[in-house]
Amino acid sequence: MIKVGVNLGKNSYEIRIGQNILPQIGLWLKERGFSGKTIIITDSNVRPLYAATLERSLIDAGFAVNTYEIPAGEEQKTLDTAGDLYHRLAESFAERSTLILALGGGVVGDLAGFVAATYMRGIPYIHVPTSLLAMVDSSIGGKTAVDYENLKNMVGAFYQPKMVITDVATLKTLPKVELSNGMGEVIKHAVIRNRNLFRYLRANMVKAMAYDLRVLEDIVIQNARIKAPVVSLDERETGGLRTLMNFGHTVGHAIEALYDFKLKHGQAVAVGMMAAAKISVHLRTFRQADVTVLEGVIRAAGLPVLLPDIFPAEQDKLIEFIKHDKKVLDGKIRFVLLKAIGEVYISNRVTPEIIREVLFSAKPTEDLRGGR
Ligand SMILES: NC(=O)c1ccc[n+]([C@@H]2O[C@H](COP(=O)([O-])OP(=O)(O)OC[C@H]3O[C@@H](n4cnc5c(N)ncnc54)[C@H](O)[C@@H]3O)[C@@H](O)[C@H]2O)c1
Ligand SMILES: [Zn+2]
Repeated sequence: MIKVGVNLGKNSYEIRIGQNILPQIGLWLKERGFSGKTIIITDSNVRPLYAATLERSLIDAGFAVNTYEIPAGEEQKTLDTAGDLYHRLAESFAERSTLILALGGGVVGDLAGFVAATYMRGIPYIHVPTSLLAMVDSSIGGKTAVDYENLKNMVGAFYQPKMVITDVATLKTLPKVELSNGMGEVIKHAVIRNRNLFRYLRANMVKAMAYDLRVLEDIVIQNARIKAPVVSLDERETGGLRTLMNFGHTVGHAIEALYDFKLKHGQAVAVGMMAAAKISVHLRTFRQADVTVLEGVIRAAGLPVLLPDIFPAEQDKLIEFIKHDKKVLDGKIRFVLLKAIGEVYISNRVTPEIIREVLFSAKPTEDLRGGR
């Protein structure tokens, strides 16, 4: 088991990563001084796979356990579901010291974290992420939220967990499309911060996508080591550092909005990263050879690299979405671009016209150089 610290003064916490560590959680929590009531919040897919192991571990360590299940899916990440959970917490006489365990993917994590942040003005919670996306991204950073009407993550709070316990062995049962989805953020972390991780991904993506747990564990550890310090330095996302985490997301978010969230976030971000890489070549700050390398890694992760790979492109609409992004100023978009793999910068030289060229062109990017 490996520990990675998130340093936030008195809100500091530890991420523990290993294989088959669910049975140890009860003891670890006892060692941390927790006792009494615990509530596991999980979803209908994850519960039958892992809830019993976690329950047993908590009971053996002397905790009382209640498990609340929500149906799986983003549609559940609402104030209504949060309301149901408050109701059940009150029914179970949950108190200030009751500990919530979020067992599941990012949906369970965001929702359970939001409930923990708001019930009785805040009760302690820990993340037990079971999807790759939750392990490398949503469980680290203390962002909790629910969707409101059709706006994603509209209502939420920054609220840090007491601990994150990541059992990589749970990935064995994660559907492949979800493994790819999480891999989008993994590739993003590597591209913006860590050339060595990128090299590792290039060499090991096939094994990772074949559920090699040793490789997946390495990947999860390296990602935690990238995201934890970013969160430590910039807890509430006010500074520029977390902005860099938006690499691939300007175009990615527009694609998601255009297709009404019918495609996976990781797929949209993959196309967004390719767009950002090609724009960087267009602006002559990044090498075409590196775009090709990036494309290979993205494809090996089972992710798309071009819009037509997923949907017929609706060019004008997409450009409109990008133009209406809140980061746009005077028709210019604050874009995270590449100097090299592992080195990004923020540019305001990207126009909608450039985006249109790189996003909808199936031609090699070199053809775009020197004019339109
Ligand atoms: N808080 C943050 O900083 C942050 C960051 C990124 C994303 N998010 C949020 O995370 C959510 C997406 O997370 P996600 O991709 O994990 O989605 P998810 O929670 O819906 O999980 C994906 C699917 O995999 C299933 N699943 C999870 N673990 C499994 C396992 N081990 N075995 C079998 N099935 C398993 C789930 O039941 C679900 O059907 C979105 O709501 C997004 O807004 C939050
Ligand atoms: Zn993302």
